Amino acid sequence: MENNPVITIFESLPSLGPGDDEHTEKAFSIIAEPPEGGGEILDVGCGRGVQTMALARLFPSCRIIATDIHQPFLDVVDEKAAAEGFSGRIKTVCASMDDLPFGEESFDIIWAAGCASIIGIENAVRYWKKLLKPGGYMMISDVFWFTDTPSDEAREFFAEFHPAMMLEDKGFEIIRNAGLELAGSFRLPSRVWEETFYGKMRGKLGELEEEYADDEGALMVIGGLKRQAEIFEKYPDEFGNTYLVMRKPL
Ligand SMILES: C[S@@+](CC[C@H](N)C(=O)[O-])C[C@H]1O[C@@H](n2cnc3c(N)ncnc32)[C@H](O)[C@@H]1O
Repeated sequence: MENNPVITIFESLPSLGPGDDEHTEKAFSIIAEPPEGGGEILDVGCGRGVQTMALARLFPSCRIIATDIHQPFLDVVDEKAAAEGFSGRIKTVCASMDDLPFGEESFDIIWAAGCASIIGIENAVRYWKKLLKPGGYMMISDVFWFTDTPSDEAREFFAEFHPAMMLEDKGFEIIRNAGLELAGSFRLPSRVWEETFYGKMRGKLGELEEEYADDEGALMVIGGLKRQAEIFEKYPDEFGNTYLVMRKPL
């Protein structure tokens, strides 16, 4: 994993993805009946635990298992949990999101911010559904097309950089076909992308290009991120991050 250029570069970035506490709370508020007396939350692909900490604060009685494939990110989560006094409620587990060491129907809530498309949204929804208790909720946020007639520039870029990116409507269809109910959804405002992701990484990418001048894989990831930020600036209505909250029927 240490040789994965995506992880190498993301490890050096100030932010792993767009989003803020306001929108984590907004997604959480769609969950009609948060489990009483605790409840088990699985935070998949938790990165440095930005959302893990927000969930722990929002929902003081829950227990959270935060998983990621990259142990150094989980070490950061453990440090943050200790600093905020959450060590008793947050446990980290290093595991791949498509091969998680948990039994079926283990969780009340599954949270997957900015990572489901790594294994494919359909695979993710169908696999994680099995880990949800009946009546449990799952939140995924990911990048989707908002139009089926994007500009040539955006279409050509994503055909190379993220060919699996799908129309938002296709995401809704995947949820229905998996036998889940859509409890609610919303799009992350483009200003939040700028504030929490692109704006923070712009200066850093120049530095990283120098640092990784001899690493072809890393340079490709850096180039892709630079280009993505430019395209988002030009076509903010064509694609973006959608939060989808779904429920497994009882
Ligand atoms: C875009 S980041 C999102 C991080 C976090 N959820 C957040 O919103 O801040 C994607 C995360 O998925 C992790 N990841 C990548 N491939 C993975 C896999 N196969 N299994 C588990 N985690 C993985 C990366 O290490 C990274 O932390």
